[in-house]
Amino acid sequence: MEHFLSMKQLTPQKIKSLIQMAEQFNYEGKPSQYSDVFAANLFLEPSTRTKMSFTVAQHKMGITPLDFHVETSSAQKGETLYDTARTFESIGANLLVVRHPEENAIASLAEKMSIPIINAGDGAGEHPTQSMLDLHTIYQDFHGFKGLKVAIAGDIRHSRVARSNAYALNMLGAEVSLVAKDEWKDHSLPYSYQSMDEAVESCDVLMLLRIQHERHESKYTETPSDYLTNYGLTKQRERKMKKHAIILHPAPVNRGVEIADELVECSRSRIFKQMTNGVTMRMAITAHVLEEWGIRSVNHHNKRKTFIVQ
Ligand code: CP
Repeated sequence: MEHFLSMKQLTPQKIKSLIQMAEQFNYEGKPSQYSDVFAANLFLEPSTRTKMSFTVAQHKMGITPLDFHVETSSAQKGETLYDTARTFESIGANLLVVRHPEENAIASLAEKMSIPIINAGDGAGEHPTQSMLDLHTIYQDFHGFKGLKVAIAGDIRHSRVARSNAYALNMLGAEVSLVAKDEWKDHSLPYSYQSMDEAVESCDVLMLLRIQHERHESKYTETPSDYLTNYGLTKQRERKMKKHAIILHPAPVNRGVEIADELVECSRSRIFKQMTNGVTMRMAITAHVLEEWGIRSVNHHNKRKTFIVQ
């Protein structure tokens, strides 16, 4: 039984089946109901989209979310992540959704736990559920990944989204390139770098990233308008993009820094669509993980019962 920790665990077939399942949830009125299931959402780093879309996904699936606020929790009294997780397991949580500021902290926790864990972002490590919703969003426009030119631009060195997406897109046959100022390049990643001016003219998908100030050792001093002019998506650059090219951003967006304010909701932008897709993709991932661990929905039991009676 596998936890959901990294895009490296997934095959192209599994990625496609999760996209298909998420797409189905867009049309299905009532997904499987897991009314006996409790999910603990342990976010030890700030989040709006990931935490709340998991919460919405859980409600839609009949799962009871156990909300956790680190600032009012016993983590403030020195309780470790492991003891917090074991506490939730002991009081009846069947599933943990965890975000943590340290890379690999969630994978280390998963080794010691006997209930499933979904990685909701670990430091500069991985953000696999974000990657899956990004892939779903790209799929909706292009119906495939092979040969697609995807440029990932911004603070690559500190970005878990860049890491998960570059790996997954490359595995799916896309041509991945990176754009970053010199100090934010990560040369351990096996992808070529290009300038923002080159990227906008050639890419089909431009994936922008915010500056990850919280992971920087020293304060970043360039002004927002200088950063936008030198490295961001300005209106002038957007005009050079291919007609069909789309813009993605995992958000939160810093308007006027990595992207001009007016472009956040332009016709190429899929930024809010990504958030909508985040709910159904997290439903699909949750259903996949619960199935993997043999945690069945009420509908499943009903279906099995009906099958046996017939
Ligand atoms: N994209 C993303 O992970 O957003 P949050 O930090 O708000 O969850």
